[in-house]
Amino acid sequence: MSPQEKAAAITGYKGSRLIAALTCYDYPTARLLDEAGTDILLVGDSLGMVVLGFPDTTRVTLAHILHHLEAVVRAQPQALVIADLPIHTYETPQQALETARKLAAAGADAVKLEGGIRQAEKVRAITSAGIPVCGHLGMLPQRVLEEGGYHKKGKTPEQTRAILEGAEALIAAGVFAIILESVTPAASREITAAISVPTIGIGCGEGTCDGQIAVITDLLGSFPWFVPPFAKPEADLAAATIAAARKYIGRVQGGR
Ligand code: KIV
Repeated sequence: MSPQEKAAAITGYKGSRLIAALTCYDYPTARLLDEAGTDILLVGDSLGMVVLGFPDTTRVTLAHILHHLEAVVRAQPQALVIADLPIHTYETPQQALETARKLAAAGADAVKLEGGIRQAEKVRAITSAGIPVCGHLGMLPQRVLEEGGYHKKGKTPEQTRAILEGAEALIAAGVFAIILESVTPAASREITAAISVPTIGIGCGEGTCDGQIAVITDLLGSFPWFVPPFAKPEADLAAATIAAARKYIGRVQGGR
């Protein structure tokens, strides 16, 4: 399937079945998650926090994303591969298109960027060039420094209306889906019911969106230093790693 067909298939799931998406940053994980049947692999800029050890996503560069995207793409996943446009790489429509083209050339099926009305022109520049775009509304991690932390969105009718207006602007510019991050359950339900493309939620409550996305380290329990309150780990790889390493160290150091 072409990237455009894969993205259209995701849009088509709205109202018929829920969408499962996971972040992914490397080759073996991409192979395993694809075999498990995930619909979407997102090479997200959460990479900066859960792989590169930065305090937030604002230090992630295009070179970082390209390096990890290329590893994910080497797994030749069936899933739609989305790559994040890092902060400062989409300041103008022209720069957004140049960045998106680099990510598409590296094998991304689609790209994602944060923000609503003020990004619509940039989204249009990218979709007009045939590259599918996923929106990202609600809490925007690339704005954590300006906003002084991670704050829940959709708490008032005005905030919900602003997200809805952003969603409509992105849809008019051609997005195939929108990630909603840390939006209240009630606002997520309202937005999901109101718009024509799927919403994929994180930190929005279960059953409130057309799908969900999880950061892979939250699912696997491999980044124990910060686990968001909404995360539902299905494994404890941190403990398994320490146990395996201790066994190895004991075997090697006790060998003489
Ligand atoms: O970078 C990322 O992992 C994301 C998800 C939190 C949606 O944008």
